Amino acid sequence: MATGDEGKGIERHLTSYGDREFSKYMRRAFLASAGYDRHDLDRPIVGIVDTSSDYNTCHRQMPEMVQAVKRGVLEAGGLPLAFPTISLHEILTAPTTMLFRNLAAMDTEEMIRAQPMDAVVLLGGCDKTVPAQIMGAISAGVPFVSAVAGPMLTGSWRGQRLGACTDCRRFWAQYRAGELTDTEIREVEQSLCATGGTCMVMGTASTMAAVTEALGLTVPGGAAPPHPSGERLLRCVESGRCAVRLAETGLCPSDILSRESFLNALTVLAALGGSTNAIVHLLAMARRAGIALTLDDFDRTAAKTPLLVDCKPAGMGYMEDLHRAGGVPVLLRELMPLLHLDTMTVTCKTLGALLADVPAAGAWQTTIRTLENPLGPTGALAVLHGSLCPDGAVIKAAAATPALMKHRGPAVIFESAEDAQRIDDPGLAITPDHVMILRNCGPVGAGMPEAGCLPIPKYLAVQGVKDMVRVSDARMSGTAYGTVALHCAPEAAVGGPLALVRNGDKIELNVEERRLDLLVEPAELERRRSEWASPAKPERGWRRLHVEHVLQANLGADMAFL
Ligand code: FES
Repeated sequence: MATGDEGKGIERHLTSYGDREFSKYMRRAFLASAGYDRHDLDRPIVGIVDTSSDYNTCHRQMPEMVQAVKRGVLEAGGLPLAFPTISLHEILTAPTTMLFRNLAAMDTEEMIRAQPMDAVVLLGGCDKTVPAQIMGAISAGVPFVSAVAGPMLTGSWRGQRLGACTDCRRFWAQYRAGELTDTEIREVEQSLCATGGTCMVMGTASTMAAVTEALGLTVPGGAAPPHPSGERLLRCVESGRCAVRLAETGLCPSDILSRESFLNALTVLAALGGSTNAIVHLLAMARRAGIALTLDDFDRTAAKTPLLVDCKPAGMGYMEDLHRAGGVPVLLRELMPLLHLDTMTVTCKTLGALLADVPAAGAWQTTIRTLENPLGPTGALAVLHGSLCPDGAVIKAAAATPALMKHRGPAVIFESAEDAQRIDDPGLAITPDHVMILRNCGPVGAGMPEAGCLPIPKYLAVQGVKDMVRVSDARMSGTAYGTVALHCAPEAAVGGPLALVRNGDKIELNVEERRLDLLVEPAELERRRSEWASPAKPERGWRRLHVEHVLQANLGADMAFL
């Protein structure tokens, strides 16, 4: 998608004064105040999207990363100019970062388009930042390379290796079950996030970094080096050099992205047992690129791709193990029979050409398995259809309890994430057979928070119940685990079948048959539908705009007008 804007470097996207030469002269004059002369300004300009923020601990060392990218740009003969955009930290943003992903994408797109740059390096990392940046950059149509913050290093507590956030959840579940004291949970709290960087399990940030590399949008090996490492900075330097080459060749997102490159990303997602959130983000990214991709593509791809990577929550390892084992290039090498190797990358080489020099997974490591000796079966992610989710729902089968993947039980309903606060009320008389329903948490209902992995009621947890079937129109964190059906579409807030469920209705989940059904007669559902009223809209601002234009989860939850 070309921008249609003439000129290069500082002459791109001229400010409108009605006199183009005056606009150029004014730019040179103001940039002189920053010490730039014509020697600098004749170079290709590489913008650097900087999402440093005191509120974003995952990007803690991003200022160093910016400097490293600048060095790479200068070495390759370009002029680097960094600029800030919205930064979204998963834990410090209310009610959910997903409500702001599309706003961040708009910010990124418009700032790339409004300012002069021949290529751009996107520095993101924490969950929504990477898909938001890529969505925006695809729409802006300027050559780009994505450079992620990289994962934290693991911490330890009383001899146990641990990290965010699968272990956050495991220890919290133990605390709720009375297995940890107040003192112990406080010690754990201080040990979970040992360094800056993104969550170091195969959560959304790690998954998005890996699928972005599979899409050909990072330099080789860009996904896995830890945030505090020299290798992370080296990837940033390489990204800067790469961006100058992209500026010179004009290789645009539309030259790199294809249906085949997305199918490669889906294969990697399945082999990782990666975050279900990546499904929403990849659908949105493909839609921005004008590439047909559906939920069923995810199911079909996962059905033929075994789990190869031993990383929590589907496995036991951490991102630093994946990095030491060779990272995403070695994983891609092992997946070669399942990949489209003629897809293009930001290096201006095809994926196949890049993988020609990559060694096979070493016998000395156990993190990256082979197709002949996988860690787990195919079908790590499954897409469900049925009377409860006519437009689809997803489940991370690799993180679910096998015995619950075929289950029929009575519904117990929570109307919102706030309403779920009463989950520990023994008066609800929830049994392990119940199916816990959370609704009004879809894109329209609540911006799609990661609330779908409802906690096990405390009175069941202390009896040793570790998992139950849960169903919602929400998302769940990529670091979470359990038998949790998510992203039900259409969502409750637009009148999807989830809105019509009543306490005690029978729900049936059958992952093998890819079904999720509400076992209530159609005539009764029609009667209930006639009584249903849509919720009130927010009065103003971004939230109003979001509710009026956001698409359903099966379409990527992007804004319809983007
Ligand atoms: Fe930022 Fe997990 S909170 S990646």
